[in-house]
Amino acid sequence: MAAPAPSKGRLFCAKVMANEPVASEINRIVLEAPELAASLRAGQFVNVAVEGEARQLTRIPLSFTDTDERAGTIELIYALIGPGTRQLSRVGEGSVLSVLGPLGNGWSIPEAAKRALLVSGGTGTVPIFAAALALAKSSTIADVVVGARTKDLLWGLAALKEKVGGEVIVATDDGSAGERGFASEPALTLLSKHPYDLVLVCGPEPLMKVVSARSVELGIDCEVSLERTMACGFGACSTCAVRTVHGMKGACMDGPVFDAKEVVFP
Ligand code: FES
Repeated sequence: MAAPAPSKGRLFCAKVMANEPVASEINRIVLEAPELAASLRAGQFVNVAVEGEARQLTRIPLSFTDTDERAGTIELIYALIGPGTRQLSRVGEGSVLSVLGPLGNGWSIPEAAKRALLVSGGTGTVPIFAAALALAKSSTIADVVVGARTKDLLWGLAALKEKVGGEVIVATDDGSAGERGFASEPALTLLSKHPYDLVLVCGPEPLMKVVSARSVELGIDCEVSLERTMACGFGACSTCAVRTVHGMKGACMDGPVFDAKEVVFP
């Protein structure tokens, strides 16, 4: 698959339209930034700046689930996993944030794909959700496997079921919702059942390794979106290194979406 050109992004002022919890320690923020909303592609990300305790600005890389071009808004889902995201959770409606974007390469989303398998684990569900919506617009049937540690970390399932044309299967590590176990298990079952022509995966690396290896064995185009620490988001800091068959690359500029055949998983 030919990867679209990566983007270094531009700075935008974005008004906060909503900022609320959607699951345990997981928030949804809606930003009004019409030009940015019109230019984001599924799988790309943005850097949102928040002011820390010493008034220094911290930039947080965040994936988006959806854009609404008519309203000029972007919906981002983020886990409260550090001081930056906790500070972001305290930003009120009507505040204005500095947002850099669009950043990175998104999913390829080929129009000719008839049936796709989308697999996510943890925060990987955010870019997978965006891919599911993009595929729904191109009339591709998508089966989606959503993995989480426990049911308290699940969000967006009703919207996902409404939008995608295929199955939505949930797997939780503790069995509190859906199937007990990792998302890789139902994903491998689906791969043996349907003739997919596209597989997209985002989540923990063992999940991406197993699902992408089986997809490549079956000759199916497979892309993975790699989660890395991203200090700058535009190629200046080397915090986002990815080992590939072509040497080391940066997740922010060369990814975060990669052809699965390129990535060397540990
Ligand atoms: Fe700085 Fe990738 S995040 S180089």
